[in-house]
Amino acid sequence: MGLTPVRNAAVWNTVKILFLGSALLFLINIFFGFDNALTPAGTVIPRWQILIHLHAGTVGWITLSVIGLLIWIYTGQREVSGSYVRGVGILAWTAIIAFGGYIISFGLAFSQAGPVFFLLPTFGVAAAGVIWAAFIWSLVQLRRQAVVTTVHLLIMGALLVVAVGALFGVLLGLEHIVGLFIPGSDRIGTHAGLMDTYLFLAAAAIVEGFVRKDPNARWTRAGLVQALSWIIAALLVPIFIVFTLPQEVILLFVILLFLGLGLFLARMGKLALTQNPLRADPTAWSFYGTIWLIVFLILFAYAAFVLLPNPDLMPPWFGAVFVHSAFVGMMTNLLLGLYSARTQDVRHILATWEPTAILLLNLGILVFFLLKITQDLRIGAIFMGIGVILGVLTMVARLGASGGGTSEGAPS
Ligand code: HEM
Repeated sequence: MGLTPVRNAAVWNTVKILFLGSALLFLINIFFGFDNALTPAGTVIPRWQILIHLHAGTVGWITLSVIGLLIWIYTGQREVSGSYVRGVGILAWTAIIAFGGYIISFGLAFSQAGPVFFLLPTFGVAAAGVIWAAFIWSLVQLRRQAVVTTVHLLIMGALLVVAVGALFGVLLGLEHIVGLFIPGSDRIGTHAGLMDTYLFLAAAAIVEGFVRKDPNARWTRAGLVQALSWIIAALLVPIFIVFTLPQEVILLFVILLFLGLGLFLARMGKLALTQNPLRADPTAWSFYGTIWLIVFLILFAYAAFVLLPNPDLMPPWFGAVFVHSAFVGMMTNLLLGLYSARTQDVRHILATWEPTAILLLNLGILVFFLLKITQDLRIGAIFMGIGVILGVLTMVARLGASGGGTSEGAPS
């Protein structure tokens, strides 16, 4: 497997702490996910509940894990100093606290309103600051790599895009206090467009980490163009909205999305799709993650090209299917695979739970979507949620028992 463990035991342990923190914050998302599923069709889910559910998933689960992956990839096999280890530890703990506070702020600000709104930009600045710090850290560390691989470029691109997205998120929070000031008609789109597109970079970095043949192969031009296509596509979104650019820019956005996808499939996606989906290891998770990446990208292109200019055409199920293809189908499959890779030294723990979780999660998504599309029911999400819980519990149990250092924890 192409992802080797970190040589330094303390940094390897920091990656574990970040993953445990992410899994803990994910529980907030899952709790409200079950509540959503039990909310009868036709009843509107309160805005605060959707926002805390959404941000516990995107910030707590996905972005915190991506910072863990960043530290993993950028430390790798290097010998590192004591100050490096301390710096990484501070980054990790600050991220956990800032992200945790930010998630809770969403629930409080939108359920209580009034003066509590100050929490949003306060923790927002802290959370965005951590993401920017992680991005700048990756820039500095890039020069210290013996070999820069395409995975380094993809993960750094992901951090750049999520950092710009976080900045727009902070501005949106600030608008609740000082009044509206972001130009353009779709203010939330400036933030959401970046946050959705960043996922392709993060997902592709994980898949490539799992299936690449040679972990020490230098970056390639095709890999660079893949990363740039998605980075430029993402950055186009706020530019398009803020400067009210002509609709043709959407076509460019869609072309860039598909260019990135084509290169991804030709380079690594085809390898991920030939993995055995019934195995209990990271490559099986990457098989499903890749399928959902393709589904999500097609839905995204459809949303940008067809639904954005004609919002009346939006089917009532589209939002739920769109977000869960991305966040659960693509990202949760891949992150659970990443956690599985981090804990290969103890893969005998709950050995049968991992393949069960893989199947339940993916079948559960299908049940959720089928009931939502055909009968506008939310209850199918329960099956998906059980698969997610099973996967998370398996990985938390393994993380708790997993060791540190070079030999232990090594993916086979
Ligand atoms: C990273 C993980 C997740 C994220 C970011 C996320 C995000 C979202 C968002 C943004 C919505 C609002 C969709 C809309 O109104 O258009 C939503 C709704 C919902 N979510 Fe999730 N979700 C995640 C995981 C889950 C899980 C694990 C479950 C099940 C336990 C779940 C169950 C639901 C349900 C039932 C709805 C309501 C859908 C509807 O109104 O038809 N979600 N989620």
